[in-house]
Amino acid sequence: MVDKPGEFAAAAVSKAAEAVEKAAKMVEGMKRSVPGAPSSRPPSLEEPTEPREPLPPKKDQSSPETRTPTGAETRAARDALGQQGEWLTTSQGVRLYETDHSLKAGERGPTLLQDHHLREKVMHFDHERIPERVVHARGAGAHGSFIGYGNADDVCKAAFLRKDVETPVFVRFSTVVGSRGSADTVRDTRGFATKFYTEEGTYDLVGNNIPVFFIQDGIKFPDIVHAAKPHPDREIPQAQSAHDTFWDFVSLHTEAQHHTMWNMSDRGIPRSYRTMEGFGVHTFRLSNSDGATTLVKFHWKPKLGVHSITWEEAQMLSGVDPDFHRRDLYDAIEAGAHPQWELGIQTFPDVPEQTFEGIDLLDPTKLVPEELAPVQPLGLLTLDANPTNFFAESEQVAFHAGHLVPGIDVTDDPLLHARLFSYLDTQLTRLGGPNFSQIPINRPHAPVNDMLRDGFMQQGVHSGVAPYRPNSLDGGCPFHAGTDSAFVEAPVTVPAATKVRDAPASFDDHFSQVRMFWNSMSPVEQEHIINAYTFELAKCYEPVIRERQLQALANIDPGLCAKVAEGLGMPAPPADLKVASADPSPALSQLGQTWPLDGRMVAIVVDAEGDLSGVNDARTALFAAGIVPLVVAAHGGTVGDGIEVQRTFGTARSVEFDAVLIAGCPAPSPDALTARDAKSGADTNAALDPRVALLITEAWRHAKAIGAWGTGSDALTATGIDASDLGIVAAENGSDVVEALLVLMGAHRVWDRFATSA
Ligand code: HEM
Repeated sequence: MVDKPGEFAAAAVSKAAEAVEKAAKMVEGMKRSVPGAPSSRPPSLEEPTEPREPLPPKKDQSSPETRTPTGAETRAARDALGQQGEWLTTSQGVRLYETDHSLKAGERGPTLLQDHHLREKVMHFDHERIPERVVHARGAGAHGSFIGYGNADDVCKAAFLRKDVETPVFVRFSTVVGSRGSADTVRDTRGFATKFYTEEGTYDLVGNNIPVFFIQDGIKFPDIVHAAKPHPDREIPQAQSAHDTFWDFVSLHTEAQHHTMWNMSDRGIPRSYRTMEGFGVHTFRLSNSDGATTLVKFHWKPKLGVHSITWEEAQMLSGVDPDFHRRDLYDAIEAGAHPQWELGIQTFPDVPEQTFEGIDLLDPTKLVPEELAPVQPLGLLTLDANPTNFFAESEQVAFHAGHLVPGIDVTDDPLLHARLFSYLDTQLTRLGGPNFSQIPINRPHAPVNDMLRDGFMQQGVHSGVAPYRPNSLDGGCPFHAGTDSAFVEAPVTVPAATKVRDAPASFDDHFSQVRMFWNSMSPVEQEHIINAYTFELAKCYEPVIRERQLQALANIDPGLCAKVAEGLGMPAPPADLKVASADPSPALSQLGQTWPLDGRMVAIVVDAEGDLSGVNDARTALFAAGIVPLVVAAHGGTVGDGIEVQRTFGTARSVEFDAVLIAGCPAPSPDALTARDAKSGADTNAALDPRVALLITEAWRHAKAIGAWGTGSDALTATGIDASDLGIVAAENGSDVVEALLVLMGAHRVWDRFATSA
């Protein structure tokens, strides 16, 4: 109890200090929650001088398990795969006292050939690059786990699908066409490749975010890829389909039309890897422990829903943040918003004709509507750790459609068969020899005894003298496994047939499912498709290519064709094919529900004169909702009482954010000069900083939710946006605004703000 005035004052001071400390900790905590720190420890201002062990990876990072090349557990810590000890050494572990100067004959003399350290350092540097993937070169990976629900037992005996079995996984998402350094947000298909390190060996599900493919036969893969890649003479355009060779091919080879329309839809420009569906595309054959078989198609269903960006956002992001999807994945995992997908299957009886409801299951340009065969969930994938080293993990990972485990087999899909040949073949060159399955990220978690020997970069030290079967010198090892535990091809009868280079007649229908996809889209999604075709075809130089593609569109839907033709200033041709009418499949539309918001980004525009305590409340409420708030202010550093600034008016751009909160009406700051920042208007006497005005109007144009309170409402007025407009929230304080904003964000966008011509 305090009974003297002096003690009272001291207690008050200490209480105040406590409160300040608490507030500082809160702010510090919030700061840490904004992902993107480059290192596991904040750096010192001065160059460190105390020798120390290498810093551990960041908390959100993991690396491959420390298995031997033959799959045995080593129990070594995962960071044992990285650099060791506090001293700089040669690759042989010999300590070095200096690496800043080469060995010379005198300070000004020539470099000496005997400098073995220089030679090693430069030799290794000279060979740091390996060939990028021939397709899917641009990507990003993450570690996680898969837990089976146990409801696959009737159809599949694979151990990793059993109830509560937890299997480590590594997933790599990618674009298809662009080079390794290309932008993430280009219009393209996305790869969704999952490596399950199961106890029965590694299983790879190498899929895409689009359930159909451009071609029916793998022999056409080089053709479609050559057509989609940059023109071979000038090597442009990079990572785009909006050019003559792509449209030349798909308009002639019309089986590509279905996949092409998916690419032209919002699916071609996902908001995030976390908000994509995944598809195995082909039909696979599962078998249960009694040997009974079922045909299936695999699906990944994202817990966060399927969402996209707009085309203008995609184009802007290619400049503002070409790493948008990579950053989003890493940041979300670092922020603890671990993305999840349910693996599911559509099942079909394994009948000799391999069709379902008239759909040829061996034709990879066709999907089976979920309304005809619902997706049945089999387990949950969670990605919870970023790679520790991009090259070692995301670049060196080698997926293969032929990495199968007992219970999962291929069908006779002619596209799949070419893939079964292609992946190992390409990896032989890409990874520099036949031993790439021994690279840490590719090492199985099951015992390996494969009788494969030697070769470049052999990591195993195999014992014994008899890597052949049968043998007696190695005691007969290794033995054949019983058919219970071994991979056994499903004993499917191949009908007697004549060798042909041909396809079944059922593969001839190239248009009915494209029409179904078009009919399944909401009006706003259809507008986006019209716009995408118009944009891409307008980028083609040759009018005949546009004309030919318009003919394909006429066969899909005359209304679609007319609108694209109008944009191109060309006549819309009549259909020249009779295409079956197609009922919509509502599951194909991305709209119409609400979804969780984990890992979304919200800008909070602050003004030193505005309501800063409301900013803290808004930040707290957003963090609590799993969202990352980024404070945008006139200058870097802090605003008010220690509110950390993440973006300045000069560095922020609306396309980074899913929604915008405005907590003030900042007047133009001193750097709002066109000479310094091209985003600035000339009017430095405006009521609102022109960069903030741009941020708000772009967010408006892209149908994002916008919230304002206090003088933030004046900022809205300054941009001509009315507080009663669609998707605008104006309230008394930051917390109330956030509450209403979250509801709007659940629908991803304020869809009704987009005008449609329908
Ligand atoms: C349904 C059809 C297909 C799907 C879903 C698909 C999916 C994928 C994915 C996701 C990757 C990236 C893997 C990674 O992240 O490392 C990939 C890479 C690749 N795909 Fe496919 N692909 C398909 C068809 C084909 C076909 C028909 C071929 C060849 C005939 C092919 C050849 C390749 C090659 C060579 C790579 C690069 C692999 C590497 O360098 O590691 N793909 N594919």
